[in-house]
Amino acid sequence: MKTLTVRPYQPSDCEAVHRIAADTAFFGAPIERYLDDRRLFTDYFYAYYTDYEPEHSWVAVDSETGEVAGFLTGCVDTQRKEEVQRRQVTPAVLRRLLRGHYRLGIKTFRYLNRLFWSDRRREWPEVDLSSHPAHLHINLCEAYRGMGAGRMLMQCYLSQLRELGVPGVHLGTTDQNKAACRLYEKTGFQLLGERPTRVWEGIIAEPVRYRVYGMILVG
Ligand SMILES: CC(C)(COP(=O)(O)OP(=O)(O)OC[C@H]1O[C@@H](n2cnc3c(N)ncnc32)[C@H](O)[C@@H]1OP(=O)(O)O)[C@@H](O)C(=O)NCCC(=O)NCCS
Repeated sequence: MKTLTVRPYQPSDCEAVHRIAADTAFFGAPIERYLDDRRLFTDYFYAYYTDYEPEHSWVAVDSETGEVAGFLTGCVDTQRKEEVQRRQVTPAVLRRLLRGHYRLGIKTFRYLNRLFWSDRRREWPEVDLSSHPAHLHINLCEAYRGMGAGRMLMQCYLSQLRELGVPGVHLGTTDQNKAACRLYEKTGFQLLGERPTRVWEGIIAEPVRYRVYGMILVG
């Protein structure tokens, strides 16, 4: 039987983390369901964690083979991340886009269009960043789910945040990420907000609700 251990992220894990992020981005399945080129997703959504704040990420590895089975990417200061995203990450992606680096097709245009309108409709519940400044993303390869790695990754990150004196942490998901919601509730997160979203309209049949969970760590 496979066993997993958790250790801090190191730069040589970058490719595996980006691959798993793209392989699990569509409700635990590959991103190609709604995007033509996974590099656009990993460059835009994951470069920050691996390139600008790697010290707050963790990986679960297969104890026998050393293969990366999943990750938790963390950020202790969401406002700082938004600043780096605006000043560095987004311009780098736009430069690559203009140089024709990414494959763009109808799936991508439809997704960006839905994302734009979702943002305009303010479908994402707001978070008080003064009480919950940190956030995280967590994903495991399909073959390694349900083995306790999600819980272990979460415990390592939450202990790290407590040691750093970070007051609180939040994360975003949807009501359709059933295992994820269960993990968050079992590890002590509370639902801070929930709103219906049309961002997956035409892609999945069920109505989807965005959820934001949070946890206060001090006091
Ligand atoms: C969500 C995810 C990170 C959870 O990690 P995991 O290693 O599979 O979860 P664990 O084995 O640590 O289980 C943690 C808790 O969640 C519950 N859980 C795990 N898988 C579940 C499932 N499929 N259905 C219901 N509950 C589940 C377990 O009951 C467990 O609680 P317990 O220890 O009290 O029994 C992982 O399943 C995953 O990557 N899923 C796909 C991608 C995804 O949805 N990521 C989150 C995006 S917001």
